[in-house]
Amino acid sequence: MEPRGRLVVMISGFGSNLQAILDACREGRLWAEVVLVVSNRKDAYGLIRAARAGVPTLYFPLRPYRERGLDRIAYDRDLADQIASYRPDLIVLAGWMHILSSAFLDRFPGRVINLHPALPGMFPGRDAIRRAFEAYRRGEISCSGCMVHYVTPEVDVGPVLVQAVVPLYPEDTLERFEARMHEAEHRILLEGIQRALERIRTVSS
Ligand code: GAR
Repeated sequence: MEPRGRLVVMISGFGSNLQAILDACREGRLWAEVVLVVSNRKDAYGLIRAARAGVPTLYFPLRPYRERGLDRIAYDRDLADQIASYRPDLIVLAGWMHILSSAFLDRFPGRVINLHPALPGMFPGRDAIRRAFEAYRRGEISCSGCMVHYVTPEVDVGPVLVQAVVPLYPEDTLERFEARMHEAEHRILLEGIQRALERIRTVSS
């Protein structure tokens, strides 16, 4: 049997998607293990989820670099060094809110994927769920969705692994739409990880 895929999951906040990954690994729905959870925010609840699951965590803030007059490239390079020491098969950005430059990405070609709560080309960046909801209310879109894609230095852009349409309804509140979006995200993220791991295995066999 194939060894379990080694995942590093990067987060900045609540970590519900991290939890979906941890649960799927524990229940054997995903043939993988989370070997490290990285956060750039100390108060990210996802760090607690990781600790509860017995997974090593790394809090890695940008601020000390800024204070020493160092740029994001130095941060990205050091972050890549730390992560590389865990020998990840795949790095999963699950609510990670820091743009990674080539200094990071070039260290892990074809091995960094991101979850974004919008369809390709729509609402890149922060607050995509709220912006989609508001666009629907203005009659500009009839549905939204989410995707898992390979990461490039541009924000929320890159070859798509999985996507799902999430409908919007006239009676929706932002909270209801958000809940439906997260449900879809938790599903496609697992599928995206599975597909990315399969591709890596195919390439390296
Ligand atoms: C998710 O909706 C994810 O798609 C989004 O952050 C949220 C994290 O939720 N990511 C982006 O917007 C990336 N541009 P979680 O912390 O509960 O997993």
